[in-house]
Amino acid sequence: MVSFHVPGHKNGKIFEKYSFDINSNIGQFDITEIPGSDNLHAPEGIIKEAQERAKAFYGGDHTFFLVNGTTCGIISMIMTVTNPGDKIIVQRDCHRSVVSGMILGGVVPVYVKPHVYSNLLLSMAVTPESIEQAIKKNLDAKAVIITYPNYYGICSDIEKIVQTVHQYNKILIVDEAHGSHLKLSNKLPISALDAGADMVVQSTHKTLPSFTQSSMLHVRAGRIDIDKLKTMLTLNQSSSPSYLLMASLDMAMTILAQEGNFLMEKLIENINDFVKEIEEIEGLSLVSKELIGKYGVKDIDVTKLTINMKSLGIEGTRLEERLRKKYNIQIEMADIYNVLAVASIANDKNDFSRLSRALRSIHDDKKIPHRKTELPEFSFGIPKMEVLPRAAVYSEKKNVEFAKSSGKVSGEYIIPYPPGIPMICPGEVISEEIIEYVQILRDLGISVIGTSDESLNTIKII
Ligand SMILES: Cc1ncc(COP(=O)(O)O)c(C=O)c1O
Repeated sequence: MVSFHVPGHKNGKIFEKYSFDINSNIGQFDITEIPGSDNLHAPEGIIKEAQERAKAFYGGDHTFFLVNGTTCGIISMIMTVTNPGDKIIVQRDCHRSVVSGMILGGVVPVYVKPHVYSNLLLSMAVTPESIEQAIKKNLDAKAVIITYPNYYGICSDIEKIVQTVHQYNKILIVDEAHGSHLKLSNKLPISALDAGADMVVQSTHKTLPSFTQSSMLHVRAGRIDIDKLKTMLTLNQSSSPSYLLMASLDMAMTILAQEGNFLMEKLIENINDFVKEIEEIEGLSLVSKELIGKYGVKDIDVTKLTINMKSLGIEGTRLEERLRKKYNIQIEMADIYNVLAVASIANDKNDFSRLSRALRSIHDDKKIPHRKTELPEFSFGIPKMEVLPRAAVYSEKKNVEFAKSSGKVSGEYIIPYPPGIPMICPGEVISEEIIEYVQILRDLGISVIGTSDESLNTIKII
């Protein structure tokens, strides 16, 4: 199976290339806090040294290894910069872990709407102007949190956003779950830390060669209370952190330090050749740098390949299925129109040739039924928040038929998955538009999670 999905080591391919003999050592790696193996929650030995190496590579003032994914980093960052009842300004198309942070921290969200590219139903960027407006209306907000890049590699103008946020003396937190590799080439968008963000969390496991659930949190000194952050990390992470995960972060850093830039240059070269090949396939299109300057987009990460055959009448979900079943290629995800292939330094030229040949052959296959799937216009408005997220989770609830829940306050999430971005968070009012849209997603085979009734015939309301 060719992997264009996370984790970034691509089925262990890169570990073999660099002769990390994981298979025969896995039992020995899995240790605990014994003499010599240090302690993630109070590092002063090998873990401290490994974190220092990562810090030097990324260029921040503090780096923390995370064993409970970016999720625990996001929750900890939110709980560090706020006290219960404080406000935080949040990009609305945030990952559900941001909402989890607000629930656990008792934080009041102020949402900022990103631009949406309605032709492909893709969420784009937030602008410095919309963030400034939100700050001006909420001068008591403690911080701003943005997602950069988004799942599709779309980047907001982070340098201007940093300037704006700091001009009002606020903290900028960045969910860089999809951007731990940006540091590897100046042909990629600037990394959030280099742009001057105060705290950045990265899912190393998604785009670099480390194990699933291993992440890193980087901090710039100045605005962040480091002791409070350490307390929150201890609160939100396991007291038995996995040495397999931590060792994998250090293996990733070893590969990056030795050959990271070279491998990334090679990858970008392979991607450029691949793009040239598939651009010749009529009816196929790719989210490309042409979007820069529109919808608030400042830059695009080329390692995320958002491909669609919308004009040929082949939905993303059917394209994904065909790539998997007929061509043995697994991509990261599909939505109504697009498939998203996530490439990493572990992908080689052969992987790209396989993908381009498969796309060409799908295009040429006259037996594939072509259907026109046009969704009704969807506003992507921010739902009305009737009850704060934390209060909503603890409120009494009852089940109602989902189809008849318009106007009711949801007690649960509604999250198309992937990408895991909530359409409705607990405490928000369900609209007719959302009911209709969710039903179309489900008809197309896109999974929608967050409700206790998995069939979504019913939903819990407050
Ligand atoms: C934008 C974004 N933020 C955060 C997360 C959570 O990351 P993790 O799976 O490392 O906990 C994800 C996971 O998909 C994500 O897409």
